[in-house]
Amino acid sequence: MRPSHSSITPVVLAGPEAVAERVAALLLADRLRPDRPLGLATGRTMAPVYAALARRLRRLPPGLAAVVRDGWWSFNLDDYVGLAPGDPASFAATMAHQLERPLGLAPGRVRLPDGRAADPDAEARRYATELRRAGGIGLQLLGLGLNGHVGFNEPPCGASAPCRCVELSDQTRRQNAAAFGGDPEAVPRRAITLGLAEILAARRVVLVVTGGEKASVLRRALWEPPSPELPASWLQHHRALSVIADKAAMA
Ligand code: GLP
Repeated sequence: MRPSHSSITPVVLAGPEAVAERVAALLLADRLRPDRPLGLATGRTMAPVYAALARRLRRLPPGLAAVVRDGWWSFNLDDYVGLAPGDPASFAATMAHQLERPLGLAPGRVRLPDGRAADPDAEARRYATELRRAGGIGLQLLGLGLNGHVGFNEPPCGASAPCRCVELSDQTRRQNAAAFGGDPEAVPRRAITLGLAEILAARRVVLVVTGGEKASVLRRALWEPPSPELPASWLQHHRALSVIADKAAMA
């Protein structure tokens, strides 16, 4: 942990594509020397990152590409509770579509909490135990919600909140409605998410933010005193936080 400060220096790149390339390079470097599992996120910010990663993997010599595929081990932050099996809006389906298939990963390499579990609270505990047994996260990739959430840690949220089942805010359901035909009411009301506890325990955290609509929340998260009202602000306490943003997000 480090004290909250204003010394975070974001890497600022031209736009989402440049950001995606930079983050994909980091992920690939991590998987070429796998230590602990990767922590992954979903969302519009991450779609170009995974596409860039797939392109980079295709350009690698076959021996190195095999190292990445065979050593792949990742834990996603979150998934919705209660979607039907195979629902394309689930984060499990998103990861299959954006990452597992394009990278050619074997089944089981990309872990997510099971939003279809009969008992979501028990599933959250099981997922936390699985991650702990894996040694915790090495590099944690994070997007930023418009209300300052990371994963689905909605405000208010303390720095020690564990993996758990949460209620989603109306703002988050509106933010994510596009994947549900544009209807916020169709977005599930609950999700299972890793907590700030697991996120802050990662060896390295990479926060990725693109687009002007996130500029104000990013500024507050990085440079205002950490508070439960802005869960991402707890990242200021992480001693190995990198922020990769585009110009619009840093405006
Ligand atoms: C979602 C996810 C987060 C994601 C964030 C930003 O609700 N739970 O993991 O990083 O909100 O999403 P987007 O990249 O679509 O703006």
